[in-house]
Amino acid sequence: MLVELNAKQRVAQHAADLIENDMVVGLGTGSTANYFIEALAKRQQGGLRCTTVASSIVSTLKAKSLGLSQVSMEHLSHIDVYVDGADEVTEDKVLLKGRGSDLVREKLLARASSEFHVLIDQSKLVDRIGQNYPIPIEVMPFAWQLVLRSLEALGGQGKLRPNASGDGFAMTSHGSLVLDMAFEERDILALDSALNATPGVVEHGIFTGLATAIFIADESVDVIEQRR
Ligand code: A5P
Repeated sequence: MLVELNAKQRVAQHAADLIENDMVVGLGTGSTANYFIEALAKRQQGGLRCTTVASSIVSTLKAKSLGLSQVSMEHLSHIDVYVDGADEVTEDKVLLKGRGSDLVREKLLARASSEFHVLIDQSKLVDRIGQNYPIPIEVMPFAWQLVLRSLEALGGQGKLRPNASGDGFAMTSHGSLVLDMAFEERDILALDSALNATPGVVEHGIFTGLATAIFIADESVDVIEQRR
């Protein structure tokens, strides 16, 4: 029986088809990344040999449940390809990520990989970062109020991300809090640099100069590829 794949599954399959024997593959976090993990596990069952490294506890467990071979990040100095979704993508391949609270590992994998393949559907394409979502900023818990003041001085407005039950605050895998911040329309590269230079900021969701290819699920054709 032929099963019709949804848009996220189609880009995930496309990315999994590009994985070659003996590659070290970074696994992203989120619903699209989950489809990629499933597609990669199917390729492994078909004889592909690869090693994976996960960006979160969630993707570690997903990969484990499907029998993918895994190694932890501290044993690696290089990754061949990192495959993950994104919340927003601009024409010049700047990304917004981090709704899943695992920014530190995600950016480390993106930076350490020879290729970073981003899987999205058309709804993720935006004119400017921050158009649809606030920018997630991981902060050291004891510093959150001081960081919030610094971010307000940069023109930002926002608050701590609540936890799922709404009775406390969300914590990342590394024990950081997250400030979800909206900024006035502004130069995103300058904002990236300003956030990188703000003491108390652990990591943030603007990914510049890291994506090597964007795979976009499209209605009319299978997948559109935009490469650097
Ligand atoms: C994880 O922290 C995020 O960056 C996700 O990659 C992003 O939110 C995309 O998620 P979906 O694939 O579920 O849309």
